[in-house]
Amino acid sequence: MSLTIGCYSLPNRLVLAPMAGITDSVFRQICQQHGAGYTVGEMLSAQTNLWDSKKSSTRFANNTDPEPRSVQLLGIDPQELAHAAARQVEQGAQIIDLNMGCPAKKVCNIAAGSALLAYPDRVEKIFTAVVNAVNVPVTVKIRTGTDADNRNALEIAKIAEQAGLAAITIHGRTRADKFNGQAEYDTIKQVKQAVSIPIIANGDICHAEQAEYVLKYTLADGIMVGRAALGNPWLFKQIDHYLQTGQLLAEPQPTERQTVIMQHLEGLYALYGEHQGLRIARKHLGWYAKHLPQGEVLRKAFNLAESAQAQCDLIRHFFELNT
Ligand SMILES: Cc1cc2nc3c(=O)[nH]c(=O)nc-3n(C[C@H](O)[C@H](O)[C@H](O)COP(=O)(O)O)c2cc1C
Repeated sequence: MSLTIGCYSLPNRLVLAPMAGITDSVFRQICQQHGAGYTVGEMLSAQTNLWDSKKSSTRFANNTDPEPRSVQLLGIDPQELAHAAARQVEQGAQIIDLNMGCPAKKVCNIAAGSALLAYPDRVEKIFTAVVNAVNVPVTVKIRTGTDADNRNALEIAKIAEQAGLAAITIHGRTRADKFNGQAEYDTIKQVKQAVSIPIIANGDICHAEQAEYVLKYTLADGIMVGRAALGNPWLFKQIDHYLQTGQLLAEPQPTERQTVIMQHLEGLYALYGEHQGLRIARKHLGWYAKHLPQGEVLRKAFNLAESAQAQCDLIRHFFELNT
């Protein structure tokens, strides 16, 4: 089985979650090379007056990204979102995803992200405005509701279907849950039974057997993986293989890990420049290191390296000693 979003038939049902500050084009490409069938860009504000910043510009649709190229927009005003979506499509976006899942305070102070779930009328206006503004599939990422007493994912999903959205991703937590507790999949299962557009299940999927369990339990069309892919892009191939064969793949060899880490670092320096690139690299290396014997030693040394050259030398030296 595969996942279809509008006119795009994806190679499999595995999606990399959008994660601001993490899933830039470099990491998205690596995940696609390692089995993610589809990846979603980091959220971008719908306020186009903020788009001049370097940070925003790395989040725009980029014609060199693997297809289909998605851009995730965050905002509260239907016309502003519609305008931003049209601008991104002009620039090469092939799918527009709307962020109605982010619980962050800064975002929710303006009632954006998951706070919008409390306002179904506004949600409907946003969906209609954006769908009418672009000729590409529009999708939405939501949570199960605002809190345990207001789990209205089903209501929002029906509005999305009615407005012509092409897919819905549901993170199995409410806005009030933030990232606490365990994701629940019952609401996702309930929504899947009630609407006919594709549903992507998200939340706490961190290994192949669990991915299979969530797909079987919810009957979702796809699954989205976020935090478990940090430092571990191979997870997508592992899940894909397991879904196809029922067999677990061996962990990647050290040389394979080294190749991917080096690709990641070089991509970061190229995208952000050396100064910012090496700071972002420290974050990712911390996650890669969790999967390496002696990784903590590497992480500490890496955090002290003050140039791209020094970071790359450390990686080479580490793998010479540890392979
Ligand atoms: C650091 C971080 C940044 C995130 N940024 C976004 C974002 O930009 N847009 C969004 O829709 N969700 C964002 N999320 C939520 C994830 O997409 C995902 O829904 C959540 O992490 C649950 O999935 P997981 O358990 O597989 O990590 C972010 C999550 C994390 C941890």
